[in-house]
Amino acid sequence: MEKIKLFDKTFRLFIRNAEIEAAIDKVAEQINKENEDCCDIPVILCVLNGSMMFTSALMKRFTFNCELVTIKLASYAGTSSTGEVKELMGFTADVRGRRVYVIEDIVDTGTTIVELEKKLKEHGAASIKICTLLFKPESYHKDLPIDYVGISIPKAFIVGYGLDYNEVGRNFEDIYVIDEEGDAPRMKYYVLFGPPGAGKGTQASAMVERYGLHHISTGNLLRKEIAAGSELGLRAKALIEEGSLVPDEVVEGMIASEFRSVKGVNGFLLDGFPRTIAQAKALDEMLASTGEEVTAVVSIMIPDSMIVERISGRAAVEGRADDADVSVIRHRIDTYHAQTEPEITYYKKSGKYFEVDGVGTIDQVRERIFELVDRF
Ligand code: IMP
Repeated sequence: MEKIKLFDKTFRLFIRNAEIEAAIDKVAEQINKENEDCCDIPVILCVLNGSMMFTSALMKRFTFNCELVTIKLASYAGTSSTGEVKELMGFTADVRGRRVYVIEDIVDTGTTIVELEKKLKEHGAASIKICTLLFKPESYHKDLPIDYVGISIPKAFIVGYGLDYNEVGRNFEDIYVIDEEGDAPRMKYYVLFGPPGAGKGTQASAMVERYGLHHISTGNLLRKEIAAGSELGLRAKALIEEGSLVPDEVVEGMIASEFRSVKGVNGFLLDGFPRTIAQAKALDEMLASTGEEVTAVVSIMIPDSMIVERISGRAAVEGRADDADVSVIRHRIDTYHAQTEPEITYYKKSGKYFEVDGVGTIDQVRERIFELVDRF
């Protein structure tokens, strides 16, 4: 079903069951591995009602001995959190001295899991791990680490697969998001990260086509401004000719003018910008001035060894000497990590950073990116 109606609200299909099942496979594999050589019997704590479907699916995949315990908590009324956690039913078994896996359907503000962790400690649990099927990183500002996350989603109200709107909607096998058709569609601002050889260019084109985005690459922009002989272009040209770096404000000026002048698109795909935290902050300010924000940072991940392999492979085909030298490639990789690490931390804090596994065929990686970006 593409749409469902629950009371006064319409919801549209958001995450298909196949994707949910794949996410559960991954989480189960991690927990199974962790319990391979354990001889105690950990507690699988199902937080009712929302988590019953996830707990059931997860437990069916567990290959170690475990005991199911439940607790019933409530913190939501309608489509928003009340900020107060009510215990409707206590632990159904003693958790003292036991390893506990908390199984949640969704972590939103984190009020529930923080309260639950406190309760578990008071009841003498030996260790506590948090496992959630869904996670809203933009809403979460607690210090408690979340050990296992199935799928990260943006700040939106969802139902299905155990999640409810005023107690209905839990029965659907897919997940649906509230349909705000009445609202004007918001412009999307995606930032694309990826080391050399990750296939960023190819995937950028695919994203541009599917989502109707305008691709902004700083290198191309600079060349365009210079060719057009604009004031910015002339300044940039002079700086490049004297061997200096183009300062942040020039790059930022170009980006801002691109945002203003390009019409008829659904959003922008930024590639090569922001390159520093200062630029990331400038971008946030630029967008905030019009009541907008970065939608998501999509980071294509491949292991360093594969970067070397792919670039030297490309060198063999294209005969590019600069790509053939492994020490040069390694230097480029180090520069990439040094440059992006602080930015990753910056975007993680605002819950906007999402990684996509870049290992596989172009089609496979593209599907993973689409699966993620479709949610925005
Ligand atoms: P938190 O305490 O803000 O982390 O919220 C956790 C609880 O709120 C979950 O266990 C759900 O019951 C409920 N919740 C949070 N977000 C949603 C949503 O999008 N749909 C339905 N319930 C939600």
